[in-house]
Amino acid sequence: DKANEMPRKQADDIETLREEAADCRACHLYKHATQTVFGEGRQTARIMLVGEQPGDKEDIAGKPFVGPAGQMLDRALEEAGIDRRKVYVTNAVKHFKFVPRGKIRLHQKPNTPEIKACRQWYERELAAIKPDLVVAMGATAAQSVFGKITPINKNRGRTIGLDDGTQALVTVHPSYLLRLPDAESKAREYQRFVQDLKIAAEALR
Ligand code: URA
Repeated sequence: DKANEMPRKQADDIETLREEAADCRACHLYKHATQTVFGEGRQTARIMLVGEQPGDKEDIAGKPFVGPAGQMLDRALEEAGIDRRKVYVTNAVKHFKFVPRGKIRLHQKPNTPEIKACRQWYERELAAIKPDLVVAMGATAAQSVFGKITPINKNRGRTIGLDDGTQALVTVHPSYLLRLPDAESKAREYQRFVQDLKIAAEALR
């Protein structure tokens, strides 16, 4: 039929997407951020990790998860037996949202219109990478991955099939671990995070 005569639309490669996203004006966040922080990793990655948005350090470096949350993530990935060099790491929102507070830039949670405006990039990354498993870290990532508000605690700890056949896993955001006030809950929540990542590693075997 006619549909079969049409040239099949090829998924973009990540470098093409990165260049396009550098000029993104889909929401207002580009105005104050230093640059678009696009995803990073191998096109052949089987796991795609999704965070919330770049932080202060990421905004400056132009790379995802290089600041304190990134160090927490690196440690947990290693403990779960996942090689960061083999995963694709990205964020639901690709510009840093903040309010200036004296000398620091205070992170602000992206809102639903901003998450929706940025979702096109996540969708195109997903189409380019075609991972077996997407790991949504935190509520913002879960909202983007599932296309709707998806509570973390009710859904973590198991893989969930998405409409397109990709498996998804929900867990907390590493920044959440950094914010916990006492050492005991930090240690406990960190272990739960590692446990979730182990389920991700296990799902690929
Ligand atoms: N937090 C995120 O969600 N993403 C980053 O890249 C860094 C911190």
